[in-house]
Amino acid sequence: MRRMRLDKLLADAGIGSRTEVKLLIRKGRISVNGIVVNKSDHKVDFETDTILFDQEQVSYHKNVYYMLNKPSGIVSATTDNHDTTVIDLFEKENRQGLFPVGRLDKDTTGLMVITDDGAFAHKVLSPRKHIPKTYVALLDEALLASSVDALENGLDIGDAKLTLPATVRIEESNREIVHLTIMEGRFHQVKRMFQVVGRSVLSLKRIQIGNLLLDQSLSEGSYKALTKEEAFQCLETSEMN
Ligand code: URA
Repeated sequence: MRRMRLDKLLADAGIGSRTEVKLLIRKGRISVNGIVVNKSDHKVDFETDTILFDQEQVSYHKNVYYMLNKPSGIVSATTDNHDTTVIDLFEKENRQGLFPVGRLDKDTTGLMVITDDGAFAHKVLSPRKHIPKTYVALLDEALLASSVDALENGLDIGDAKLTLPATVRIEESNREIVHLTIMEGRFHQVKRMFQVVGRSVLSLKRIQIGNLLLDQSLSEGSYKALTKEEAFQCLETSEMN
């Protein structure tokens, strides 16, 4: 949707708060294609309309957000000399400025958010925010009850600090499939956590970041556009799967 309200565009472009930009519009300080516009709900096309604030062009970039179901064998980088990257999966003309929010191992599949919004990525990845991420691991052997406790309470994986408390859910129908929700993003964290309790991860898939769930209808290697509101569900936390 390229058409939007003039006041929203000006606020999104950082000109001022919604109230402040409404005042600017009322005062006649905003023109669209050379004509002063006095109505805040005037619809503008942010790609083709020329919007001036006191004769200065307002530049508005609409950030993009995608949900990718990362396949195995692809690296989560923007460029790589040897491997295909998650960005290579996008059409050449749509790659401008895109990068993955965080990393998954080359052999990990599932939910990745791809964007050109650096501030958003920063928030999702901030260690202080403790955004929960849920992974589904297929283990070589079912977990012992004592291991579930250890994983949930926090354990020593060889770093300076113990892991933060995590949540474990074992699938009823196949006890080797474990849903693990962690609040951090340390290097190889999930594999290392299971390794400490004596289990190997045979396959690993991320299914959730914050409140954003991987769309099950998205096949591996496919992506879909998200609205900003959808993408920002990553920053909300209420229920994990
Ligand atoms: N933990 C891992 O071990 N690997 C990933 O790709 C993500 C989390």
